[in-house]
Amino acid sequence: MAQRLLTSANRVSARFAFIFTLSLSCTYLCYNIIFYGGAVMTNQGYEGKRCPPSKNAGGKKLLGKLSDNNCASPDVSRSAGQRGSNEQSRPPASPGGHWADMSLRNMSVAQKYGNKKLPNALIVGVKKGGTRAVLEFIRIHPDVRALGTEPHFFDRNYDRGLDWYRELMPRTLDSQITLEKTPSYFVTREAPRRIASMSHETKLIVVVRNPVTRAISDYTQTLSKKPDIPTFEELAFKNRSLSLVDTSWNAIRIGMYILHLENWLQYFRPSQMHFVSGERLITDPAGEMGRVQDFLGLKRIITDKHFYFNRTKGFPCLKKPESSSQPRCLGKSKGRTHVQIDPEVIEQLQEFYRPFNIKFYETVGQDFKWE
Ligand SMILES: *[C@@H]1O[C@H](CO)[C@@H](O)[C@H](O)[C@H]1NC(C)=O
Ligand SMILES: *[C@@H]1O[C@H](CO)[C@@H](O)[C@H](O)[C@H]1NC(C)=O
Ligand SMILES: *[C@@H]1O[C@H](CO)[C@@H](O)[C@H](O)[C@H]1NC(C)=O
Repeated sequence: MAQRLLTSANRVSARFAFIFTLSLSCTYLCYNIIFYGGAVMTNQGYEGKRCPPSKNAGGKKLLGKLSDNNCASPDVSRSAGQRGSNEQSRPPASPGGHWADMSLRNMSVAQKYGNKKLPNALIVGVKKGGTRAVLEFIRIHPDVRALGTEPHFFDRNYDRGLDWYRELMPRTLDSQITLEKTPSYFVTREAPRRIASMSHETKLIVVVRNPVTRAISDYTQTLSKKPDIPTFEELAFKNRSLSLVDTSWNAIRIGMYILHLENWLQYFRPSQMHFVSGERLITDPAGEMGRVQDFLGLKRIITDKHFYFNRTKGFPCLKKPESSSQPRCLGKSKGRTHVQIDPEVIEQLQEFYRPFNIKFYETVGQDFKWE
Protein backbone atom coordinates (compact mmCIF):
# COMPACT_ATOMS: atom_id res chain seq x y z
CA MET A 1 0.00 0.00 0.00
CA ALA A 2 2.71 2.43 1.07
CA GLN A 3 4.85 1.30 -1.82
CA ARG A 4 2.00 1.88 -4.22
CA LEU A 5 1.53 5.38 -2.98
CA LEU A 6 5.22 6.05 -3.44
CA THR A 7 5.27 4.88 -7.08
CA SER A 8 2.29 7.00 -7.97
CA ALA A 9 3.93 10.04 -6.38
CA ASN A 10 7.03 9.29 -8.41
CA ARG A 11 5.00 9.04 -11.55
CA VAL A 12 3.35 12.42 -10.90
CA SER A 13 6.64 14.15 -10.36
CA ALA A 14 8.16 12.53 -13.45
CA ARG A 15 5.24 13.72 -15.52
CA PHE A 16 5.60 17.19 -14.06
CA ALA A 17 9.29 17.29 -14.91
CA PHE A 18 8.55 16.17 -18.44
CA ILE A 19 5.89 18.84 -19.00
CA PHE A 20 8.13 21.48 -17.48
CA THR A 21 11.03 20.59 -19.81
CA LEU A 22 8.72 20.51 -22.81
CA SER A 23 7.30 23.95 -22.14
CA LEU A 24 10.78 25.34 -21.58
CA SER A 25 11.96 24.01 -24.95
CA CYS A 26 8.89 25.45 -26.64
CA THR A 27 9.49 28.87 -25.18
CA TYR A 28 13.10 28.76 -26.26
CA LEU A 29 12.19 27.65 -29.78
CA CYS A 30 9.54 30.35 -30.22
CA TYR A 31 11.89 32.97 -28.86
CA ASN A 32 14.48 31.92 -31.39
CA ILE A 33 12.13 31.93 -34.35
CA ILE A 34 10.65 35.32 -33.57
CA PHE A 35 13.72 37.24 -32.51
CA TYR A 36 16.42 35.76 -34.64
CA GLY A 37 14.23 35.94 -37.71
CA GLY A 38 13.14 39.44 -36.75
CA ALA A 39 16.69 40.69 -36.75
CA VAL A 40 17.36 39.22 -40.16
CA MET A 41 14.20 40.66 -41.59
CA THR A 42 15.07 44.11 -40.31
CA ASN A 43 18.21 43.88 -42.31
CA GLN A 44 16.83 42.40 -45.48
CA GLY A 45 13.25 43.55 -45.55
CA TYR A 46 14.24 47.17 -45.37
CA GLU A 47 17.39 46.83 -47.36
CA GLY A 48 15.87 48.84 -50.16
CA LYS A 49 15.45 51.80 -47.85
CA ARG A 50 18.88 51.58 -46.34
CA CYS A 51 20.85 50.90 -49.46
CA PRO A 52 20.24 52.73 -52.67
CA PRO A 53 20.41 50.24 -55.51
CA SER A 54 23.34 50.02 -57.85
CA LYS A 55 24.79 53.24 -59.25
CA ASN A 56 23.93 52.46 -62.82
CA ALA A 57 20.50 51.33 -61.88
CA GLY A 58 18.57 54.55 -62.33
CA GLY A 59 15.07 55.15 -61.03
CA LYS A 60 16.23 54.93 -57.46
CA LYS A 61 15.42 58.47 -56.43
CA LEU A 62 11.67 58.16 -56.59
CA LEU A 63 11.34 57.27 -53.00
CA GLY A 64 12.05 60.24 -50.81
CA LYS A 65 15.53 60.38 -49.46
CA LEU A 66 17.61 57.31 -49.42
CA SER A 67 20.29 57.08 -46.82
CA ASP A 68 23.76 56.25 -48.03
CA ASN A 69 25.23 54.90 -44.80
CA ASN A 70 26.17 51.25 -44.64
CA CYS A 71 26.02 51.03 -48.39
CA ALA A 72 29.61 51.15 -49.47
CA SER A 73 29.03 48.73 -52.28
CA PRO A 74 26.56 49.53 -55.03
CA ASP A 75 27.36 46.28 -56.75
CA VAL A 76 24.72 43.68 -56.10
CA SER A 77 27.01 40.68 -56.07
CA ARG A 78 29.18 42.28 -53.45
CA SER A 79 26.34 43.58 -51.32
CA ALA A 80 24.88 40.09 -51.24
CA GLY A 81 28.15 38.81 -49.80
CA GLN A 82 28.34 41.66 -47.33
CA ARG A 83 24.99 40.87 -45.86
CA GLY A 84 26.27 38.15 -43.58
CA SER A 85 28.69 40.37 -41.74
CA ASN A 86 26.16 43.16 -41.21
CA GLU A 87 23.50 40.85 -39.92
CA GLN A 88 24.65 40.54 -36.38
CA SER A 89 25.50 44.16 -35.76
CA ARG A 90 22.10 45.70 -36.45
CA PRO A 91 19.65 45.91 -33.60
CA PRO A 92 16.20 44.46 -34.26
CA ALA A 93 13.53 47.04 -34.92
CA SER A 94 10.22 47.04 -33.15
CA PRO A 95 7.55 47.06 -35.81
CA GLY A 96 4.76 49.59 -35.49
CA GLY A 97 1.53 48.51 -37.11
CA HIS A 98 -0.25 45.20 -37.02
CA TRP A 99 0.56 44.47 -40.64
CA ALA A 100 4.26 45.00 -40.02
CA ASP A 101 4.05 42.54 -37.17
CA MET A 102 2.29 40.03 -39.35
CA SER A 103 4.72 40.21 -42.23
CA LEU A 104 7.63 40.11 -39.81
CA ARG A 105 6.50 36.79 -38.43
CA ASN A 106 5.90 35.30 -41.87
CA MET A 107 9.21 36.61 -43.16
CA SER A 108 11.12 35.17 -40.27
CA VAL A 109 9.62 31.77 -40.89
CA ALA A 110 10.61 32.07 -44.56
CA GLN A 111 14.08 33.12 -43.54
CA LYS A 112 14.60 29.92 -41.61
CA TYR A 113 12.67 27.36 -43.58
CA GLY A 114 12.31 28.86 -47.05
CA ASN A 115 14.33 28.21 -50.17
CA LYS A 116 15.92 30.45 -52.73
CA LYS A 117 13.90 30.36 -55.92
CA LEU A 118 14.04 32.03 -59.28
CA PRO A 119 11.61 34.97 -59.34
CA ASN A 120 8.06 34.31 -60.46
CA ALA A 121 7.40 38.00 -61.02
CA LEU A 122 9.52 40.86 -62.32
CA ILE A 123 9.15 44.61 -62.40
CA VAL A 124 10.73 45.15 -65.81
CA GLY A 125 10.34 48.90 -66.32
CA VAL A 126 10.35 51.66 -67.02
CA LYS A 127 13.17 53.85 -65.81
CA LYS A 128 11.80 56.90 -63.95
CA GLY A 129 8.32 55.43 -64.07
CA GLY A 130 7.94 54.71 -60.36
CA THR A 131 9.38 51.18 -60.19
CA ARG A 132 11.14 51.70 -56.86
CA ALA A 133 7.88 52.87 -55.30
CA VAL A 134 5.96 49.84 -56.58
CA LEU A 135 8.65 47.52 -55.25
CA GLU A 136 8.67 49.17 -51.83
CA PHE A 137 4.88 49.18 -51.67
CA ILE A 138 4.38 45.56 -52.75
CA ARG A 139 7.01 44.14 -50.44
CA ILE A 140 4.86 45.09 -47.44
CA HIS A 141 2.75 42.12 -48.45
CA PRO A 142 3.49 39.06 -46.31
CA ASP A 143 3.33 36.79 -49.35
CA VAL A 144 5.95 38.73 -51.30
CA ARG A 145 9.70 38.65 -50.86
CA ALA A 146 11.70 41.03 -52.99
CA LEU A 147 15.30 41.70 -53.78
CA GLY A 148 16.18 45.25 -52.70
CA THR A 149 18.88 45.86 -55.30
CA GLU A 150 18.68 45.68 -59.09
CA PRO A 151 20.42 42.50 -60.25
CA HIS A 152 20.50 43.45 -63.98
CA PHE A 153 20.55 39.77 -64.74
CA PHE A 154 18.73 39.71 -68.07
CA ASP A 155 20.70 42.61 -69.50
CA ARG A 156 24.23 42.83 -68.07
CA ASN A 157 24.79 39.69 -65.99
CA TYR A 158 23.20 37.00 -68.10
CA ASP A 159 26.53 35.23 -68.60
CA ARG A 160 26.72 34.47 -64.90
CA GLY A 161 23.93 31.94 -65.27
CA LEU A 162 20.67 31.12 -63.52
CA ASP A 163 22.36 29.62 -60.45
CA TRP A 164 24.10 32.91 -59.75
CA TYR A 165 20.79 34.70 -60.21
CA ARG A 166 18.89 32.33 -57.88
CA GLU A 167 21.53 32.73 -55.22
CA LEU A 168 20.80 36.48 -55.04
CA MET A 169 17.16 35.88 -54.16
CA PRO A 170 15.72 36.01 -50.66
CA ARG A 171 14.48 32.76 -49.17
CA THR A 172 10.77 32.20 -49.68
CA LEU A 173 8.11 29.74 -48.65
CA ASP A 174 6.26 27.90 -51.40
CA SER A 175 3.26 30.17 -50.94
CA GLN A 176 5.34 33.33 -51.36
CA ILE A 177 6.20 35.22 -54.51
CA THR A 178 9.82 36.03 -55.31
CA LEU A 179 10.20 39.39 -56.99
CA GLU A 180 12.95 41.60 -58.37
CA LYS A 181 13.00 44.82 -60.35
CA THR A 182 15.38 46.07 -63.01
CA PRO A 183 13.85 48.88 -65.09
CA SER A 184 16.26 48.51 -68.01
CA TYR A 185 14.82 45.09 -68.91
CA PHE A 186 11.89 46.74 -70.67
CA VAL A 187 14.14 48.29 -73.33
CA THR A 188 16.58 45.39 -73.61
CA ARG A 189 16.11 43.51 -76.84
CA GLU A 190 17.18 40.11 -75.49
CA ALA A 191 15.31 40.37 -72.18
CA PRO A 192 11.89 38.95 -73.22
CA ARG A 193 13.44 35.89 -74.87
CA ARG A 194 15.76 35.27 -71.93
CA ILE A 195 12.99 35.67 -69.34
CA ALA A 196 10.69 33.38 -71.31
CA SER A 197 13.41 30.75 -71.45
CA MET A 198 13.66 30.92 -67.64
CA SER A 199 9.88 30.50 -67.38
CA HIS A 200 7.00 31.14 -69.75
CA GLU A 201 4.82 31.78 -66.73
CA THR A 202 6.77 34.76 -65.36
CA LYS A 203 4.50 37.65 -64.41
CA LEU A 204 5.66 41.01 -65.67
CA ILE A 205 4.92 44.41 -64.20
CA VAL A 206 5.60 47.59 -66.14
CA VAL A 207 5.23 51.00 -64.52
CA VAL A 208 4.60 53.58 -67.22
CA ARG A 209 4.28 57.33 -67.12
CA ASN A 210 3.75 60.16 -69.59
CA PRO A 211 6.80 59.73 -71.85
CA VAL A 212 7.46 63.50 -71.95
CA THR A 213 7.65 63.90 -68.16
CA ARG A 214 9.57 60.64 -68.03
CA ALA A 215 12.16 62.00 -70.47
CA ILE A 216 12.53 65.24 -68.51
CA SER A 217 12.90 63.32 -65.26
CA ASP A 218 15.48 61.05 -66.89
CA TYR A 219 17.42 64.06 -68.20
CA THR A 220 17.27 65.78 -64.79
CA GLN A 221 18.79 62.71 -63.17
CA THR A 222 21.62 62.52 -65.71
CA LEU A 223 22.25 66.26 -65.38
CA SER A 224 22.66 65.93 -61.61
CA LYS A 225 25.57 63.54 -62.25
CA LYS A 226 27.03 65.19 -65.35
CA PRO A 227 26.36 68.93 -65.21
CA ASP A 228 28.21 69.54 -68.51
CA ILE A 229 25.82 67.79 -70.88
CA PRO A 230 23.96 69.83 -73.56
CA THR A 231 20.51 71.23 -72.87
CA PHE A 232 17.42 69.05 -73.04
CA GLU A 233 16.29 70.79 -76.23
CA GLU A 234 19.61 70.20 -77.96
CA LEU A 235 19.52 66.51 -77.17
CA ALA A 236 15.84 65.97 -77.92
CA PHE A 237 15.80 67.35 -81.47
CA LYS A 238 17.77 66.79 -84.60
CA ASN A 239 16.17 69.93 -85.92
CA ARG A 240 13.81 71.71 -83.63
CA SER A 241 12.23 74.08 -86.16
CA LEU A 242 11.28 71.00 -88.18
CA SER A 243 10.13 69.21 -85.00
CA LEU A 244 12.56 66.46 -85.93
CA VAL A 245 12.96 64.44 -82.74
CA ASP A 246 16.16 62.50 -82.11
CA THR A 247 14.87 59.00 -81.46
CA SER A 248 18.37 57.65 -80.95
CA TRP A 249 18.58 59.54 -77.66
CA ASN A 250 17.76 57.06 -74.89
CA ALA A 251 15.65 59.53 -72.90
CA ILE A 252 13.36 59.79 -75.94
CA ARG A 253 13.57 56.19 -77.08
CA ILE A 254 12.56 54.62 -73.75
CA GLY A 255 9.20 56.43 -73.90
CA MET A 256 8.23 54.90 -77.24
CA TYR A 257 6.60 52.16 -75.20
CA ILE A 258 4.78 50.42 -78.03
CA LEU A 259 8.00 49.60 -79.89
CA HIS A 260 9.44 47.82 -76.89
CA LEU A 261 6.13 46.18 -76.02
CA GLU A 262 5.87 44.52 -79.43
CA ASN A 263 9.10 42.73 -78.64
CA TRP A 264 7.66 41.41 -75.34
CA LEU A 265 4.44 40.27 -76.94
CA GLN A 266 6.36 37.88 -79.15
CA TYR A 267 7.18 35.88 -76.03
CA PHE A 268 4.40 36.63 -73.52
CA ARG A 269 0.63 36.72 -73.55
CA PRO A 270 -0.88 40.14 -72.79
CA SER A 271 -2.48 38.62 -69.66
CA GLN A 272 1.00 38.01 -68.25
CA MET A 273 1.79 41.71 -68.31
CA HIS A 274 0.38 44.30 -65.97
CA PHE A 275 0.76 48.02 -66.55
CA VAL A 276 0.85 50.38 -63.60
CA SER A 277 0.11 54.05 -64.20
CA GLY A 278 2.89 56.13 -62.67
CA GLU A 279 0.44 59.05 -62.45
CA ARG A 280 -2.26 57.11 -60.61
CA LEU A 281 0.38 55.68 -58.32
CA ILE A 282 0.67 59.23 -56.96
CA THR A 283 -3.01 60.16 -56.86
CA ASP A 284 -4.35 56.76 -55.76
CA PRO A 285 -1.57 54.46 -54.53
CA ALA A 286 -3.95 52.05 -52.80
CA GLY A 287 -6.07 51.61 -55.93
CA GLU A 288 -3.04 51.01 -58.11
CA MET A 289 -1.52 48.58 -55.61
CA GLY A 290 -4.87 46.80 -55.33
CA ARG A 291 -4.65 45.96 -59.03
CA VAL A 292 -1.03 44.84 -58.67
CA GLN A 293 -2.06 42.46 -55.88
CA ASP A 294 -4.92 41.09 -58.01
CA PHE A 295 -2.54 40.55 -60.91
CA LEU A 296 -0.10 38.64 -58.70
CA GLY A 297 -2.94 36.55 -57.32
CA LEU A 298 -2.49 37.95 -53.82
CA LYS A 299 -5.05 38.76 -51.21
CA ARG A 300 -5.61 42.55 -51.07
CA ILE A 301 -3.72 43.32 -47.91
CA ILE A 302 -2.13 46.61 -48.93
CA THR A 303 -4.88 49.20 -48.72
CA ASP A 304 -5.55 52.87 -47.92
CA LYS A 305 -4.47 52.19 -44.37
CA HIS A 306 -0.86 51.84 -45.45
CA PHE A 307 -0.55 55.25 -47.06
CA TYR A 308 -0.71 58.84 -46.02
CA PHE A 309 -0.42 61.85 -48.26
CA ASN A 310 2.27 64.40 -47.46
CA ARG A 311 0.77 67.70 -48.61
CA THR A 312 4.04 69.63 -48.36
CA LYS A 313 5.74 67.14 -50.57
CA GLY A 314 2.73 66.43 -52.74
CA PHE A 315 3.36 62.69 -52.72
CA PRO A 316 2.03 59.62 -50.96
CA CYS A 317 4.16 58.05 -48.25
CA LEU A 318 4.15 54.65 -46.69
CA LYS A 319 3.28 54.30 -43.04
CA LYS A 320 6.01 52.26 -41.51
CA PRO A 321 7.50 50.91 -38.33
CA GLU A 322 8.16 53.76 -35.89
CA SER A 323 11.71 52.61 -35.46
CA SER A 324 12.82 53.65 -38.94
CA SER A 325 13.78 57.26 -39.00
CA GLN A 326 12.83 58.31 -42.51
CA PRO A 327 9.45 58.31 -44.17
CA ARG A 328 9.31 56.36 -47.40
CA CYS A 329 7.59 58.60 -49.83
CA LEU A 330 7.07 58.56 -53.55
CA GLY A 331 8.63 61.72 -54.91
CA LYS A 332 11.72 63.40 -56.16
CA SER A 333 14.70 63.65 -53.91
CA LYS A 334 15.12 67.11 -52.51
CA GLY A 335 17.75 69.52 -53.73
CA ARG A 336 17.76 68.34 -57.31
CA THR A 337 17.94 71.20 -59.78
CA HIS A 338 14.64 71.29 -61.52
CA VAL A 339 15.05 71.73 -65.24
CA GLN A 340 12.76 74.30 -66.80
CA ILE A 341 11.67 73.20 -70.23
CA ASP A 342 10.10 75.56 -72.76
CA PRO A 343 6.34 74.73 -72.88
CA GLU A 344 6.58 74.79 -76.66
CA VAL A 345 9.14 71.99 -76.55
CA ILE A 346 6.85 69.99 -74.31
CA GLU A 347 4.03 70.51 -76.79
CA GLN A 348 6.23 69.36 -79.68
CA LEU A 349 7.19 66.21 -77.81
CA GLN A 350 3.57 65.50 -76.88
CA GLU A 351 2.80 65.66 -80.60
CA PHE A 352 5.68 63.35 -81.36
CA TYR A 353 4.58 60.74 -78.82
CA ARG A 354 0.84 60.91 -79.56
CA PRO A 355 0.68 58.19 -82.25
CA PHE A 356 2.93 55.89 -80.20
CA ASN A 357 0.78 56.46 -77.12
CA ILE A 358 -2.47 55.73 -78.93
CA LYS A 359 -1.11 52.49 -80.34
CA PHE A 360 0.12 51.60 -76.86
CA TYR A 361 -3.32 52.25 -75.27
CA GLU A 362 -4.97 50.09 -77.91
CA THR A 363 -2.54 47.25 -77.41
CA VAL A 364 -2.76 47.13 -73.61
CA GLY A 365 -6.46 48.05 -73.54
CA GLN A 366 -5.98 50.93 -71.14
CA ASP A 367 -6.13 54.70 -71.61
CA PHE A 368 -3.40 56.38 -69.58
CA LYS A 369 -4.62 59.90 -70.51
CA TRP A 370 -1.26 61.42 -71.29
CA GLU A 371 -2.68 64.02 -73.69
C1 LIG B 1 1.34 34.32 -43.21
O1 LIG B 1 0.94 34.26 -44.54
C2 LIG B 1 -0.23 33.52 -44.78
C3 LIG B 1 -0.44 33.42 -46.26
O2 LIG B 1 0.62 32.73 -46.84
C4 LIG B 1 -1.38 34.19 -44.09
O3 LIG B 1 -2.59 33.51 -44.34
C5 LIG B 1 -1.11 34.23 -42.61
O4 LIG B 1 -2.11 34.96 -41.97
C6 LIG B 1 0.25 34.86 -42.31
N1 LIG B 1 0.57 34.59 -40.94
C7 LIG B 1 1.08 35.51 -40.14
C8 LIG B 1 1.32 35.10 -38.74
O5 LIG B 1 1.35 36.62 -40.53
C1 LIG C 1 16.66 72.81 -89.73
O1 LIG C 1 15.93 72.75 -90.94
C2 LIG C 1 15.81 73.98 -91.60
C3 LIG C 1 14.89 73.81 -92.77
O2 LIG C 1 15.27 72.72 -93.57
C4 LIG C 1 17.21 74.46 -92.01
O3 LIG C 1 17.12 75.70 -92.64
C5 LIG C 1 18.08 74.55 -90.77
O4 LIG C 1 19.38 74.86 -91.11
C6 LIG C 1 18.07 73.25 -90.01
N1 LIG C 1 18.75 73.42 -88.73
C7 LIG C 1 19.69 72.60 -88.32
C8 LIG C 1 20.30 72.90 -87.01
O5 LIG C 1 20.05 71.64 -88.98
C1 LIG D 1 6.37 65.94 -45.47
O1 LIG D 1 7.34 66.41 -46.38
C2 LIG D 1 8.10 67.48 -45.88
C3 LIG D 1 8.98 67.99 -47.01
O2 LIG D 1 9.66 66.95 -47.67
C4 LIG D 1 8.91 67.00 -44.68
O3 LIG D 1 9.70 68.05 -44.16
C5 LIG D 1 7.94 66.49 -43.63
O4 LIG D 1 8.66 65.94 -42.54
C6 LIG D 1 7.01 65.44 -44.19
N1 LIG D 1 5.99 65.13 -43.22
C7 LIG D 1 5.60 63.90 -42.99
C8 LIG D 1 4.54 63.72 -41.95
O5 LIG D 1 6.08 62.94 -43.58
